[in-house]
Amino acid sequence: MPTVFVLNGPNLNLLGVREPATYGYDTLADVEERCLERAKALDLTIDFRQTNHEGQLVDWIHEAREAADGIVLNAGALTHTSIAVLDALNAADLPIIEVHLSNIFRREAFRHHSYVSLAANGVICGLGPHGYELALEAVAALIDAATVEASR
Ligand code: DQA
Repeated sequence: MPTVFVLNGPNLNLLGVREPATYGYDTLADVEERCLERAKALDLTIDFRQTNHEGQLVDWIHEAREAADGIVLNAGALTHTSIAVLDALNAADLPIIEVHLSNIFRREAFRHHSYVSLAANGVICGLGPHGYELALEAVAALIDAATVEASR
């Protein structure tokens, strides 16, 4: 079964209590639960993680290069600031789906630019936790397409 790393950046550990008007009342554990169920239906193994530290996120993306077939990434605020995360994603050379709970384009201008998008195959934002399920579906399709291509 293909393995997908579902990586979450800073402050996402506070989901459910942090700015619920923007991010909702589901906790990150609830999001993980939904991802596990969706992954089962898609025949994916997922490794779901969260960190508040940029270097840790970079290390996990390096690990994904070796251990994963695709990445779903909500980099939190590092989305808008981190060239280190972008460089790691470019080096990973894997299907990448960027996800955000909120619609970053309805929010402050500084959230409209994403370094992650420069490396991502696709972006899903504004759909809350459901966006993670859609991201898993998208990454599964990209992994399938890559497998078919490789077998040609
Ligand atoms: C976020 C959007 C970011 O702008 C913000 O810094 C976050 C969460 C989202 O999921 O909507 O921490 O990535």
